[in-house]
Amino acid sequence: MRDETKCVRSGYKPKNGEPGVMPIVQSTTYVFDTAEEIGDLFNFPNAHMYSRFSNPTVDCVEKKIADLEGGVAAMCTSSGQMASMMSILNLCSAGDSFIAASAIYGGTVNLFAVTLQKLGIECIFIDQDADEAEINAKFKPNTKAVFGETLANPALSVFDIEKFAKIAHAHGVPLIIDNTFATPILCKPFDFGADIVVHSTTKYMDGHALQGGGVIVDGGRFDWNNGRFPEFTEPDESYHGFVYTEKFGPAAYIGKARMQLMRDYGAYPSANSAFLLNLGLETLAVRMERYCQNAMKVAEYLSTRDEIETVRYPGLKTDRYHGLAQKYLPAGCSGVISFDVRGGRDKAAKLMNAFRLACREVHVADIRTCVLHPASMTHRQLTDEQLVAAGINAGMVRFSCGLENVDDIIEDIDQALEKIK
Ligand SMILES: Cc1ncc(COP(=O)(O)O)c(C=O)c1O
Repeated sequence: MRDETKCVRSGYKPKNGEPGVMPIVQSTTYVFDTAEEIGDLFNFPNAHMYSRFSNPTVDCVEKKIADLEGGVAAMCTSSGQMASMMSILNLCSAGDSFIAASAIYGGTVNLFAVTLQKLGIECIFIDQDADEAEINAKFKPNTKAVFGETLANPALSVFDIEKFAKIAHAHGVPLIIDNTFATPILCKPFDFGADIVVHSTTKYMDGHALQGGGVIVDGGRFDWNNGRFPEFTEPDESYHGFVYTEKFGPAAYIGKARMQLMRDYGAYPSANSAFLLNLGLETLAVRMERYCQNAMKVAEYLSTRDEIETVRYPGLKTDRYHGLAQKYLPAGCSGVISFDVRGGRDKAAKLMNAFRLACREVHVADIRTCVLHPASMTHRQLTDEQLVAAGINAGMVRFSCGLENVDDIIEDIDQALEKIK
């Protein structure tokens, strides 16, 4: 099946006489005829037993997303942050380190640099555009993973997935990609050698600003048996001697994440949330196409305005990431554009208040056009140095094109720019 078909038909497969629409299974529990059957489930978890770590409705959505990404299994989480955190905790323990691009979402920078640090896990930040020798030099014997964003929020730099997959694999560790902005419609990181994909489903996948969520997808190709990941290949005494590579085969990463991390943290979405997420997923392919068209026109328009110093949109031929975008994002670069207002922080703040159609909100990737000033909002917890490393200027505005008529979006920008002249 192609992506449009997967969006509509993957996941829920009704049998004869069953509902045509994926039902909401609003139950925490599942009933069995015998105690032995439940005991067997602990040995081989091939049915639902408790909704802290699996549920039939969520399961259908997990299958759909795994299918769209071309992975072998997926696990939904209660937020994108939880997906990013679990993607690392599934590999690293206190005393380990991992490498992450510095140009990633500010909340993830904080999660990695502060919260994981408190758990004894070191994040080594790198410039994703550095050459291979410089990146290789950052690896330590305890480094267990590499993490980057396909399209960085809000710097809109394009991550060279293939380059990093080769480097990570040469060091015997997996590459994790946050594919939130691109979605599997615009880029499939597994095709370029990534091993794990995470998403904030709160963004394009949900698409309608209805609820937060996240997902982790397992590419199923990483060899956990390389001596660096004994937690995958040796018995887990906290789960009566389970060996994840034996029990789950190619889906060992998600199997372990579910049986260890979801069991203990319980950050699993509700069936109702999964139902709403599925509605967003059903139209993802058609929406992404229109977001990209709208954003391209808006980016071209912004490039003609003197009030704007720089427009960052990799779809533009003049953008420094255009070459990488042609390779990784040939169908478009999402609906998000970042631009620097001439005059810095004060002018950007004025512009923020001048929009009439674009909504001022802490959100991105919605059907409604929305704007945000990262330096004073989402990224205000970052130091000036971290801001620069994340590719953010004080005058930067993140503009998320919605699905309104593009002429209305452009007219709104036009009137707002006139007001700050
Ligand atoms: C690229 C990216 N990853 C992860 C997250 C965190 O997701 P959530 O807000 O769903 O926890 C965000 C949120 O903006 C994001 O933009």
